Amino acid sequence: MNTQVIILAAGQGKRMYSSLPKVLHQLGGQPLLAHVLQSASTLSSLPPIIVYGHQGERVRQHFAHINAHWVEQPRQLGTGHAVLQTLPLLAEDHAVLVLYGDVPLISQALLKQLIQTTPAQALGMITAQAMNPTGYGRIQRDSQQRVVKIIEEKDATPEERATLLEVNSGIYYLPAAYLKKYLPLLNQRNHQGEYYLTDVIAQAVQDRIDIHTVQPLSQEDILGVNDRMQLADLERIYQARQAEMLMQQGACLLDPARLDIRGAVTVGQDVTIYPNVILEGRVILGDGCVIGPYTLLRDVTLGRGVEIKSHSVLEDAFIGDESVIGPFARLRPHTKLAQGVHIGNFVEIKQSQVGEYTKINHLSYIGDSEIGRKVNIGAGTITCNYDGANKHRTIIGDEVHIGSDTQLVAPIRIGNGATVGAGSTIIKDVPPQQLTLTHNLKQRSIPDWKRPEKKSE
Ligand code: UD1
Ligand code: CA
Repeated sequence: MNTQVIILAAGQGKRMYSSLPKVLHQLGGQPLLAHVLQSASTLSSLPPIIVYGHQGERVRQHFAHINAHWVEQPRQLGTGHAVLQTLPLLAEDHAVLVLYGDVPLISQALLKQLIQTTPAQALGMITAQAMNPTGYGRIQRDSQQRVVKIIEEKDATPEERATLLEVNSGIYYLPAAYLKKYLPLLNQRNHQGEYYLTDVIAQAVQDRIDIHTVQPLSQEDILGVNDRMQLADLERIYQARQAEMLMQQGACLLDPARLDIRGAVTVGQDVTIYPNVILEGRVILGDGCVIGPYTLLRDVTLGRGVEIKSHSVLEDAFIGDESVIGPFARLRPHTKLAQGVHIGNFVEIKQSQVGEYTKINHLSYIGDSEIGRKVNIGAGTITCNYDGANKHRTIIGDEVHIGSDTQLVAPIRIGNGATVGAGSTIIKDVPPQQLTLTHNLKQRSIPDWKRPEKKSE
Protein backbone atom coordinates (compact mmCIF):
# COMPACT_ATOMS: atom_id res chain seq x y z
CA MET A 1 0.00 0.00 0.00
CA ASN A 2 1.34 3.42 -0.86
CA THR A 3 1.81 5.72 2.11
CA GLN A 4 0.65 9.32 1.99
CA VAL A 5 2.37 11.50 4.61
CA ILE A 6 0.32 14.38 6.05
CA ILE A 7 2.11 16.96 8.20
CA LEU A 8 -0.05 19.27 10.30
CA ALA A 9 1.53 22.69 10.52
CA ALA A 10 -1.35 25.17 10.61
CA GLY A 11 -1.44 25.81 14.34
CA GLN A 12 -0.74 29.33 15.46
CA GLY A 13 1.65 28.44 18.23
CA LYS A 14 0.01 30.96 20.57
CA ARG A 15 2.11 29.90 23.52
CA MET A 16 5.35 30.79 21.69
CA TYR A 17 4.43 34.52 21.88
CA SER A 18 6.19 35.06 18.56
CA SER A 19 5.58 36.68 15.20
CA LEU A 20 7.31 33.70 13.60
CA PRO A 21 5.08 30.73 12.76
CA LYS A 22 5.84 27.95 15.24
CA VAL A 23 7.13 25.43 12.69
CA LEU A 24 9.77 27.94 11.53
CA HIS A 25 11.33 28.17 14.98
CA GLN A 26 14.68 26.44 14.92
CA LEU A 27 16.03 23.30 16.48
CA GLY A 28 19.69 22.62 15.83
CA GLY A 29 19.72 25.49 13.32
CA GLN A 30 16.88 24.07 11.21
CA PRO A 31 13.16 24.90 11.31
CA LEU A 32 11.09 22.37 13.25
CA LEU A 33 9.26 21.44 10.07
CA ALA A 34 12.54 20.60 8.30
CA HIS A 35 13.25 17.92 10.91
CA VAL A 36 9.86 16.31 10.37
CA LEU A 37 10.26 16.43 6.58
CA GLN A 38 13.68 14.83 6.96
CA SER A 39 12.32 11.94 9.07
CA ALA A 40 9.46 11.40 6.62
CA SER A 41 11.60 11.71 3.51
CA THR A 42 12.30 8.04 2.81
CA LEU A 43 8.95 6.63 3.95
CA SER A 44 6.98 7.31 0.81
CA SER A 45 7.49 8.01 -2.85
CA LEU A 46 4.57 10.47 -2.80
CA PRO A 47 5.20 14.14 -1.96
CA PRO A 48 3.95 14.94 1.56
CA ILE A 49 0.81 16.97 2.13
CA ILE A 50 1.49 19.92 4.42
CA VAL A 51 -1.49 21.59 6.06
CA TYR A 52 -0.71 25.25 6.60
CA GLY A 53 -2.68 28.16 7.94
CA HIS A 54 -1.59 30.82 10.37
CA GLN A 55 1.02 32.93 8.51
CA GLY A 56 1.30 29.97 6.20
CA GLU A 57 2.68 31.94 3.30
CA ARG A 58 5.90 32.44 5.23
CA VAL A 59 6.12 28.71 5.81
CA ARG A 60 5.44 27.95 2.15
CA GLN A 61 8.06 30.46 1.05
CA HIS A 62 10.63 28.97 3.36
CA PHE A 63 10.06 25.51 1.91
CA ALA A 64 9.48 26.62 -1.67
CA HIS A 65 12.25 24.28 -2.86
CA ILE A 66 10.65 21.05 -1.66
CA ASN A 67 8.17 18.92 -3.54
CA ALA A 68 4.98 18.97 -1.46
CA HIS A 69 1.24 19.50 -1.72
CA TRP A 70 0.28 22.54 0.31
CA VAL A 71 -3.26 22.52 1.67
CA GLU A 72 -4.62 25.57 3.40
CA GLN A 73 -6.65 25.36 6.58
CA PRO A 74 -8.00 28.92 6.69
CA ARG A 75 -9.22 28.72 10.29
CA GLN A 76 -7.58 26.51 12.88
CA LEU A 77 -10.54 24.54 14.14
CA GLY A 78 -8.57 21.57 15.42
CA THR A 79 -6.44 18.64 14.33
CA GLY A 80 -9.43 16.73 12.91
CA HIS A 81 -10.47 19.75 10.88
CA ALA A 82 -6.88 20.09 9.61
CA VAL A 83 -6.81 16.53 8.26
CA LEU A 84 -10.33 17.01 6.86
CA GLN A 85 -8.89 19.61 4.45
CA THR A 86 -6.71 16.92 2.85
CA LEU A 87 -9.50 14.43 2.05
CA PRO A 88 -9.87 15.50 -1.61
CA LEU A 89 -6.20 14.63 -2.14
CA LEU A 90 -6.39 11.17 -0.57
CA ALA A 91 -6.89 8.05 -2.67
CA GLU A 92 -9.21 5.45 -1.09
CA ASP A 93 -6.50 2.76 -1.22
CA HIS A 94 -3.72 4.85 0.35
CA ALA A 95 -2.46 4.43 3.86
CA VAL A 96 -1.96 7.73 5.64
CA LEU A 97 0.79 8.67 8.08
CA VAL A 98 -0.15 11.74 10.14
CA LEU A 99 2.79 13.73 11.51
CA TYR A 100 3.02 17.04 13.35
CA GLY A 101 5.17 19.97 12.37
CA ASP A 102 5.87 20.65 16.04
CA VAL A 103 7.07 17.13 16.97
CA PRO A 104 10.58 17.31 15.50
CA LEU A 105 12.54 14.55 17.22
CA ILE A 106 10.43 11.77 15.75
CA SER A 107 12.83 9.25 14.23
CA GLN A 108 12.65 7.58 10.89
CA ALA A 109 13.23 4.22 12.60
CA LEU A 110 10.18 4.60 14.85
CA LEU A 111 7.96 5.67 11.94
CA LYS A 112 9.16 2.67 9.92
CA GLN A 113 8.36 0.41 12.85
CA LEU A 114 4.83 1.89 13.02
CA ILE A 115 4.29 1.36 9.30
CA GLN A 116 5.73 -2.14 9.22
CA THR A 117 4.00 -3.53 12.30
CA THR A 118 0.50 -2.09 11.83
CA PRO A 119 -1.73 -4.86 10.36
CA ALA A 120 -3.45 -3.98 7.07
CA GLN A 121 -6.93 -3.14 8.39
CA ALA A 122 -5.79 -1.81 11.75
CA LEU A 123 -5.25 1.76 12.94
CA GLY A 124 -1.69 2.26 14.16
CA MET A 125 -0.55 4.92 16.59
CA ILE A 126 2.53 5.87 18.59
CA THR A 127 2.04 6.25 22.34
CA ALA A 128 4.45 6.54 25.25
CA GLN A 129 4.53 5.87 28.97
CA ALA A 130 5.16 9.40 30.06
CA MET A 131 7.49 10.69 32.72
CA ASN A 132 5.49 13.89 32.56
CA PRO A 133 2.11 13.50 30.86
CA THR A 134 0.97 17.11 31.35
CA GLY A 135 -0.52 18.62 28.21
CA TYR A 136 -0.91 15.40 26.26
CA GLY A 137 -3.97 13.40 25.29
CA ARG A 138 -4.24 10.28 27.51
CA ILE A 139 -4.84 6.77 26.25
CA GLN A 140 -7.67 4.88 27.90
CA ARG A 141 -7.50 1.06 27.66
CA ASP A 142 -10.01 -1.63 28.67
CA SER A 143 -9.37 -4.60 30.96
CA GLN A 144 -7.81 -6.48 28.04
CA GLN A 145 -5.44 -3.59 27.39
CA ARG A 146 -7.22 -2.65 24.17
CA VAL A 147 -7.28 1.07 23.37
CA VAL A 148 -10.77 2.48 23.96
CA LYS A 149 -10.30 6.18 23.33
CA ILE A 150 -8.09 9.21 23.76
CA ILE A 151 -9.02 11.82 26.32
CA GLU A 152 -7.51 15.28 25.89
CA GLU A 153 -5.97 16.66 29.04
CA LYS A 154 -8.40 19.57 29.12
CA ASP A 155 -11.38 17.19 28.88
CA ALA A 156 -10.05 14.69 31.43
CA THR A 157 -11.31 14.40 35.00
CA PRO A 158 -8.74 14.94 37.77
CA GLU A 159 -8.79 11.19 38.35
CA GLU A 160 -8.13 10.43 34.67
CA ARG A 161 -5.29 12.92 34.64
CA ALA A 162 -3.73 11.27 37.66
CA THR A 163 -4.10 7.65 36.56
CA LEU A 164 -3.86 7.59 32.77
CA LEU A 165 -0.12 7.92 32.20
CA GLU A 166 0.13 6.64 28.64
CA VAL A 167 0.18 9.64 26.31
CA ASN A 168 -0.78 10.14 22.69
CA SER A 169 1.98 11.21 20.32
CA GLY A 170 -0.64 12.37 17.82
CA ILE A 171 1.07 10.27 15.15
CA TYR A 172 -1.14 7.74 13.36
CA TYR A 173 -0.89 5.30 10.48
CA LEU A 174 -4.23 4.23 9.04
CA PRO A 175 -6.12 3.50 5.80
CA ALA A 176 -7.29 6.70 4.08
CA ALA A 177 -10.73 5.09 3.90
CA TYR A 178 -11.10 5.43 7.70
CA LEU A 179 -10.39 9.15 7.53
CA LYS A 180 -12.92 9.55 4.73
CA LYS A 181 -15.48 7.72 6.81
CA TYR A 182 -14.92 9.23 10.26
CA LEU A 183 -13.66 12.79 9.79
CA PRO A 184 -16.97 14.14 8.45
CA LEU A 185 -18.65 12.76 11.59
CA LEU A 186 -16.52 14.75 14.08
CA ASN A 187 -18.11 17.42 16.26
CA GLN A 188 -16.84 20.26 18.44
CA ARG A 189 -18.46 19.09 21.64
CA ASN A 190 -15.42 19.32 23.90
CA HIS A 191 -13.67 21.71 26.21
CA GLN A 192 -11.73 23.45 23.41
CA GLY A 193 -14.59 23.59 20.90
CA GLU A 194 -12.34 21.94 18.31
CA TYR A 195 -12.66 19.07 15.87
CA TYR A 196 -10.37 16.51 17.51
CA LEU A 197 -8.53 14.05 15.29
CA THR A 198 -8.27 11.90 18.40
CA ASP A 199 -12.03 11.26 18.28
CA VAL A 200 -11.46 9.14 15.17
CA ILE A 201 -9.98 6.50 17.49
CA ALA A 202 -13.16 6.11 19.56
CA GLN A 203 -15.21 5.88 16.35
CA ALA A 204 -12.93 3.18 14.95
CA VAL A 205 -13.12 1.23 18.22
CA GLN A 206 -16.93 1.24 17.98
CA ASP A 207 -16.59 -0.31 14.53
CA ARG A 208 -14.32 -3.00 16.04
CA ILE A 209 -11.26 -1.81 14.19
CA ASP A 210 -8.09 -3.11 15.76
CA ILE A 211 -5.96 -0.34 17.34
CA HIS A 212 -2.26 -1.13 17.19
CA THR A 213 0.21 0.84 19.30
CA VAL A 214 3.97 1.27 19.02
CA GLN A 215 6.13 2.76 21.73
CA PRO A 216 9.48 4.55 21.50
CA LEU A 217 12.29 3.63 23.87
CA SER A 218 12.04 7.10 25.34
CA GLN A 219 9.32 9.74 25.51
CA GLU A 220 11.89 12.16 24.07
CA ASP A 221 11.14 10.96 20.54
CA ILE A 222 7.57 12.24 20.64
CA LEU A 223 7.95 15.46 22.60
CA GLY A 224 6.08 18.40 21.10
CA VAL A 225 7.02 22.07 21.07
CA ASN A 226 4.25 24.25 22.46
CA ASP A 227 6.26 26.98 24.19
CA ARG A 228 9.81 28.28 24.34
CA MET A 229 10.66 26.26 27.44
CA GLN A 230 9.83 23.05 25.59
CA LEU A 231 11.77 24.27 22.56
CA ALA A 232 14.80 24.85 24.80
CA ASP A 233 14.41 21.38 26.34
CA LEU A 234 14.26 19.79 22.90
CA GLU A 235 17.31 21.73 21.78
CA ARG A 236 19.28 20.21 24.66
CA ILE A 237 18.05 16.70 23.80
CA TYR A 238 18.92 17.26 20.16
CA GLN A 239 22.39 18.54 21.05
CA ALA A 240 23.04 15.64 23.41
CA ARG A 241 22.27 13.26 20.53
CA GLN A 242 24.57 15.16 18.16
CA ALA A 243 27.38 15.02 20.71
CA GLU A 244 26.82 11.29 21.16
CA MET A 245 27.10 10.78 17.41
CA LEU A 246 30.46 12.55 17.33
CA MET A 247 31.75 10.46 20.22
CA GLN A 248 30.62 7.32 18.40
CA GLN A 249 32.79 8.45 15.48
CA GLY A 250 35.80 8.77 17.78
CA ALA A 251 35.74 12.38 18.97
CA CYS A 252 36.79 13.29 22.51
CA LEU A 253 34.40 15.89 23.92
CA LEU A 254 35.64 17.43 27.14
CA ASP A 255 32.05 18.35 27.99
CA PRO A 256 29.37 16.94 25.66
CA ALA A 257 26.84 19.31 27.26
CA ARG A 258 28.79 22.37 26.15
CA LEU A 259 28.99 21.79 22.42
CA ASP A 260 26.42 23.12 19.95
CA ILE A 261 26.02 21.70 16.49
CA ARG A 262 23.83 23.42 13.94
CA GLY A 263 24.63 21.63 10.75
CA ALA A 264 26.41 18.54 9.51
CA VAL A 265 29.69 17.70 11.18
CA THR A 266 32.14 15.00 10.12
CA VAL A 267 35.04 14.12 12.42
CA GLY A 268 38.13 12.03 11.89
CA GLN A 269 39.72 9.99 14.66
CA ASP A 270 40.93 11.46 17.92
CA VAL A 271 39.49 14.91 17.44
CA THR A 272 39.42 16.79 20.75
CA ILE A 273 36.79 19.43 21.35
CA TYR A 274 37.02 21.71 24.38
CA PRO A 275 33.92 23.17 26.08
CA ASN A 276 31.81 25.94 24.56
CA VAL A 277 32.44 25.25 20.90
CA ILE A 278 29.83 26.01 18.21
CA LEU A 279 29.91 24.17 14.91
CA GLU A 280 27.61 25.43 12.16
CA GLY A 281 26.89 24.47 8.57
CA ARG A 282 29.15 21.87 6.94
CA VAL A 283 32.12 21.26 9.17
CA ILE A 284 34.81 18.65 8.50
CA LEU A 285 37.45 18.03 11.16
CA GLY A 286 40.42 15.88 10.14
CA ASP A 287 42.18 13.28 12.33
CA GLY A 288 43.75 14.62 15.47
CA CYS A 289 42.40 18.17 15.30
CA VAL A 290 42.09 20.08 18.56
CA ILE A 291 39.33 22.67 18.82
CA GLY A 292 39.91 25.06 21.70
CA PRO A 293 37.29 26.57 23.98
CA TYR A 294 34.92 29.36 22.90
CA THR A 295 35.45 28.90 19.19
CA LEU A 296 32.94 29.17 16.36
CA LEU A 297 33.46 27.20 13.16
CA ARG A 298 30.99 27.72 10.33
CA ASP A 299 31.36 25.90 7.00
CA VAL A 300 34.95 25.01 7.69
CA THR A 301 37.22 22.17 6.62
CA LEU A 302 40.25 21.36 8.74
CA GLY A 303 42.96 18.98 7.53
CA ARG A 304 44.85 16.59 9.83
CA GLY A 305 46.29 17.75 13.14
CA VAL A 306 45.03 21.31 13.00
CA GLU A 307 44.89 23.20 16.27
CA ILE A 308 42.34 25.96 16.75
CA LYS A 309 43.12 27.83 19.93
CA SER A 310 40.48 29.48 22.09
CA HIS A 311 38.18 32.34 21.05
CA SER A 312 38.72 31.98 17.33
CA VAL A 313 36.00 32.52 14.72
CA LEU A 314 36.32 30.75 11.36
CA GLU A 315 33.84 31.04 8.55
CA ASP A 316 33.88 29.45 5.12
CA ALA A 317 37.56 28.54 5.37
CA PHE A 318 39.84 25.66 4.44
CA ILE A 319 42.78 24.98 6.76
CA GLY A 320 45.68 22.77 5.71
CA ASP A 321 47.23 19.97 7.80
CA GLU A 322 49.11 20.85 11.00
CA SER A 323 48.18 24.53 10.90
CA VAL A 324 47.77 26.42 14.19
CA ILE A 325 45.14 29.14 14.50
CA GLY A 326 44.48 31.60 17.33
CA PRO A 327 43.87 32.35 20.09
CA PHE A 328 41.57 35.22 19.07
CA ALA A 329 41.93 34.76 15.31
CA ARG A 330 39.24 35.58 12.79
CA LEU A 331 39.18 33.81 9.43
CA ARG A 332 36.52 35.19 7.13
CA PRO A 333 34.99 33.67 3.98
CA HIS A 334 37.20 32.35 1.20
CA THR A 335 40.28 31.90 3.30
CA LYS A 336 42.49 29.03 2.24
CA LEU A 337 45.53 28.10 4.28
CA ALA A 338 48.08 25.53 3.11
CA GLN A 339 49.90 23.10 5.40
CA GLY A 340 51.66 24.22 8.57
CA VAL A 341 50.46 27.83 8.57
CA HIS A 342 50.45 29.76 11.86
CA ILE A 343 47.85 32.45 12.42
CA GLY A 344 48.11 34.15 15.79
CA ASN A 345 46.16 36.49 18.02
CA PHE A 346 44.12 39.37 16.65
CA VAL A 347 44.77 38.45 13.05
CA GLU A 348 41.93 38.83 10.53
CA ILE A 349 42.14 37.15 7.15
CA LYS A 350 39.59 37.49 4.37
CA GLN A 351 39.41 36.15 0.83
CA SER A 352 43.06 35.15 0.83
CA GLN A 353 45.33 32.22 0.15
CA VAL A 354 48.31 31.59 2.38
CA GLY A 355 51.15 29.26 1.38
CA GLU A 356 52.68 26.51 3.50
CA TYR A 357 54.63 27.26 6.67
CA THR A 358 53.83 30.97 6.48
CA LYS A 359 53.40 32.78 9.80
CA ILE A 360 51.10 35.70 10.53
CA ASN A 361 51.32 35.73 14.26
CA HIS A 362 50.12 39.06 15.63
CA LEU A 363 47.64 41.86 15.03
CA SER A 364 47.33 41.89 11.24
CA TYR A 365 44.68 42.38 8.58
CA ILE A 366 45.15 40.36 5.40
CA GLY A 367 42.44 40.84 2.75
CA ASP A 368 42.23 39.90 -0.94
CA SER A 369 45.75 38.52 -0.84
CA GLU A 370 47.86 35.72 -2.15
CA ILE A 371 50.79 34.91 0.08
CA GLY A 372 53.55 32.44 -0.81
CA ARG A 373 55.31 29.82 1.29
CA LYS A 374 57.55 30.39 4.31
CA VAL A 375 56.60 34.05 4.52
CA ASN A 376 56.81 35.93 7.80
CA ILE A 377 54.33 38.74 8.23
CA GLY A 378 55.33 40.99 11.13
CA ALA A 379 53.03 42.27 13.84
CA GLY A 380 50.60 44.96 12.80
CA THR A 381 50.86 44.46 9.05
CA ILE A 382 47.83 45.77 7.14
CA THR A 383 46.88 45.11 3.55
CA CYS A 384 45.16 48.32 2.46
CA ASN A 385 42.86 46.53 0.04
CA TYR A 386 40.07 49.09 -0.25
CA ASP A 387 40.38 52.48 -1.89
CA GLY A 388 36.93 53.55 -0.81
CA ALA A 389 35.30 52.22 -3.97
CA ASN A 390 37.07 49.05 -5.09
CA LYS A 391 38.99 46.15 -3.59
CA HIS A 392 42.53 45.44 -4.82
CA ARG A 393 44.82 42.46 -4.47
CA THR A 394 48.09 42.03 -2.65
CA ILE A 395 50.43 39.37 -4.02
CA ILE A 396 53.35 38.30 -1.83
CA GLY A 397 55.97 35.84 -3.12
CA ASP A 398 57.76 33.00 -1.29
CA GLU A 399 60.07 33.53 1.68
CA VAL A 400 59.22 37.21 2.03
CA HIS A 401 59.71 38.98 5.38
CA ILE A 402 57.40 41.88 6.09
CA GLY A 403 58.55 44.04 9.01
CA SER A 404 56.15 45.02 11.79
CA ASP A 405 53.68 47.86 11.34
CA THR A 406 53.80 47.84 7.56
CA GLN A 407 51.00 49.01 5.28
CA LEU A 408 50.81 47.33 1.90
CA VAL A 409 48.72 49.60 -0.33
CA ALA A 410 47.05 47.40 -2.94
CA PRO A 411 47.22 46.63 -5.79
CA ILE A 412 50.75 45.58 -5.02
CA ARG A 413 53.25 42.75 -5.58
CA ILE A 414 56.14 41.81 -3.32
CA GLY A 415 58.80 39.72 -5.08
CA ASN A 416 60.23 36.41 -3.79
CA GLY A 417 62.69 36.70 -0.95
CA ALA A 418 62.08 40.43 -0.44
CA THR A 419 62.40 42.04 2.98
CA VAL A 420 60.33 45.09 3.91
CA GLY A 421 61.57 47.27 6.74
CA ALA A 422 59.39 47.82 9.80
CA GLY A 423 57.03 50.74 9.71
CA SER A 424 56.97 51.07 5.91
CA THR A 425 54.09 52.26 3.80
CA ILE A 426 54.57 50.35 0.56
CA ILE A 427 52.82 51.87 -2.43
CA LYS A 428 54.81 50.43 -5.34
CA ASP A 429 55.77 46.88 -6.27
CA VAL A 430 58.74 45.56 -4.31
CA PRO A 431 61.59 43.80 -6.16
CA PRO A 432 62.72 40.32 -5.12
CA GLN A 433 65.61 39.60 -2.73
CA GLN A 434 66.18 43.29 -1.72
CA LEU A 435 65.47 45.25 1.44
CA THR A 436 62.83 47.87 0.81
CA LEU A 437 61.89 50.57 3.30
CA THR A 438 60.14 53.90 3.16
CA HIS A 439 61.33 55.86 6.18
CA ASN A 440 64.05 58.47 6.16
CA LEU A 441 63.49 59.51 9.75
CA LYS A 442 66.71 60.08 11.64
CA GLN A 443 66.74 58.71 15.14
CA ARG A 444 68.42 60.94 17.67
CA SER A 445 68.79 61.04 21.45
CA ILE A 446 68.98 64.17 23.64
CA PRO A 447 71.25 63.46 26.60
CA ASP A 448 70.26 66.33 28.98
CA TRP A 449 66.51 66.19 28.32
CA LYS A 450 64.32 66.15 31.47
CA ARG A 451 60.82 64.78 31.88
CA PRO A 452 58.30 67.50 32.69
CA GLU A 453 57.19 67.44 36.33
CA LYS A 454 53.67 67.84 37.64
CA LYS A 455 53.17 71.31 39.11
CA SER A 456 52.03 71.49 42.73
CA GLU A 457 48.91 73.66 43.30
C1 UD1 B 1 -2.50 16.98 20.06
C2 UD1 B 1 -3.41 15.79 20.33
C3 UD1 B 1 -3.01 15.17 21.68
C4 UD1 B 1 -1.56 14.75 21.63
C5 UD1 B 1 -0.68 15.93 21.24
C6 UD1 B 1 0.72 15.44 20.98
C7 UD1 B 1 -5.62 16.31 19.36
C8 UD1 B 1 -6.98 16.80 19.62
N1 UD1 B 1 -4.79 16.24 20.41
O1 UD1 B 1 -2.74 17.93 21.08
O2 UD1 B 1 -3.82 14.01 21.95
O3 UD1 B 1 -1.16 14.25 22.89
O4 UD1 B 1 -1.14 16.55 20.03
O5 UD1 B 1 1.61 16.47 20.66
O6 UD1 B 1 -5.29 15.98 18.24
N2 UD1 B 1 -2.86 21.92 13.96
C9 UD1 B 1 -3.36 22.31 12.73
N3 UD1 B 1 -4.59 22.86 12.66
C10 UD1 B 1 -5.37 23.03 13.77
C11 UD1 B 1 -4.87 22.63 15.01
C12 UD1 B 1 -3.61 22.07 15.07
O7 UD1 B 1 -2.67 22.19 11.71
O8 UD1 B 1 -6.49 23.53 13.60
C13 UD1 B 1 -1.52 21.33 14.02
C14 UD1 B 1 -0.56 22.15 14.84
O9 UD1 B 1 0.15 23.05 14.00
C15 UD1 B 1 0.36 21.10 15.42
C16 UD1 B 1 -0.50 19.86 15.52
O10 UD1 B 1 -1.59 20.08 14.65
O11 UD1 B 1 1.44 20.81 14.54
C17 UD1 B 1 -0.99 19.62 16.94
O12 UD1 B 1 -1.78 20.69 17.36
P1 UD1 B 1 -1.78 21.20 18.87
O13 UD1 B 1 -2.80 22.27 18.98
O14 UD1 B 1 -0.42 21.47 19.31
O15 UD1 B 1 -2.35 19.89 19.59
P2 UD1 B 1 -2.14 19.46 21.10
O16 UD1 B 1 -3.01 20.24 21.96
O17 UD1 B 1 -0.69 19.45 21.38
CA1 CA C 1 1.23 20.26 20.33
